[in-house]
Amino acid sequence: MKQFPNDFIWGASTSAYQIEGAYDIDGKGPSIWDAFSSIPGKIKNGDTGQVSGDHYHRFKEDVALMKQIGIKAYRFSISWPRVMPAGKGKANTRGIQFYSALIDELLEAGITPWVTLFHWDLPLALQLENDGWIGPEIPDYFAAYADVCFEHFGDRVKNWITLNEPWVMAILGYGLGNFAPGRVSNAEPYRAGHNQLLAHAKAVDVYRKKYGHQGGQIGMANNCDWREPLTDSQKDKDAAQRALEFFLAWFADPIYFGDYPAVMKQRLGARLPAFTEAEKELVKGSADYFGLNHYTTMYVAGATDPNRKSTVYGNGGLTEDQDIELSMDKTWKRTTMNWAVVPWGCRKLLEWIDNRYGRPDIYLTENGSAWNDSKVDGTVADANRIEYFQGYLGECRKAIEKGVKLKGYFAWSLMDNFEWAHGYSQRFGMIHMDYQSLERTMKDSANWYAGVIRDNGV
Ligand code: GAL
Repeated sequence: MKQFPNDFIWGASTSAYQIEGAYDIDGKGPSIWDAFSSIPGKIKNGDTGQVSGDHYHRFKEDVALMKQIGIKAYRFSISWPRVMPAGKGKANTRGIQFYSALIDELLEAGITPWVTLFHWDLPLALQLENDGWIGPEIPDYFAAYADVCFEHFGDRVKNWITLNEPWVMAILGYGLGNFAPGRVSNAEPYRAGHNQLLAHAKAVDVYRKKYGHQGGQIGMANNCDWREPLTDSQKDKDAAQRALEFFLAWFADPIYFGDYPAVMKQRLGARLPAFTEAEKELVKGSADYFGLNHYTTMYVAGATDPNRKSTVYGNGGLTEDQDIELSMDKTWKRTTMNWAVVPWGCRKLLEWIDNRYGRPDIYLTENGSAWNDSKVDGTVADANRIEYFQGYLGECRKAIEKGVKLKGYFAWSLMDNFEWAHGYSQRFGMIHMDYQSLERTMKDSANWYAGVIRDNGV
């Protein structure tokens, strides 16, 4: 492994609903994920995040493990309904105290907090009373909640992420319905996406106007796979470009250019909401850096039959809107979530972003792989995960050599967690957990990562 730049940020990520547990105590309100995971059949094995990694009670132990690994930055999310149980109105002092104590603990351990304000656990009250991300009021509610977070934590938190993966919230939550709130529609995803962009921009506006003196940076964490043209034909090349625009440019173009990609406007017509001039201005320039969550790659061909949906399970979006067919190479190794391990796709995506958005600072805010590892003699041999990290970090290094301003890398995930609809059977963490006893064990991947950090002289 060649050296990374001296100021490169090495971290690990988690999110509130996936690790905190403590779902109904100390004044926390229910979230859409509490509700969704209580519906039979929605989550593999009927799992929920009610206890999960019990991080709420064991955060000190977890911070000590982070220190042991040597990570310098920790990305976690704040649970909106823990801080504001009804999503609006009164804040919950005990929720604020929890995050305040976590931030202090991190800083004492020499770990920089990177805080996501929203990682999908929307207060249930907002879903029931205001139609969640479809309702017109949500951007203002989000900005008011963000304001409370900046006020209480902004003296110590200098790295903010407004939203995690608005694409997932929109497509899986409102299009395919396999994530909370479980709605199925071909129009709602684009409204949910629109309101998320406005919510993000309003929160950034509050941060810059009211808390600019805190001297932090703020942005969004978008997810995108790489899309490789299946053949050299113009049809397939166009299809791959279109797929990337429907995936990533959907959220990034408004932020960097002030509007949606032309191809989305043409194809979606009235299903894609339009920005007013004032909104365009608010959204444009509303990120100090480019946050990217990246895991996998698929081939794209231009569809022969526009009504044919992709047969590949996974992150295609509403493929019929894009006129594409997705596929995977049979030789690609796949994780237990059926995601292909394709390190070069990571470099190509970083270069695509670098090129399209004018060389922004990029942080890989998530990257990692799930494997159903099991313990043998009290240990887990993490060869697959180490190989994954090695491959992807190697391609990150190549991207940096080509001039891409990649500034940091956050492994997903710090610890095994509630893997949304996949339940607990998919183990994602560098720290493995035995959920019966909640024993936390550092395994090969965490030690390997610690070695990389050490070798880079951080
Ligand atoms: C991301 C998400 C994380 C985690 C990861 C692996 O989409 O932000 O919460 O679940 O995928 O599935």
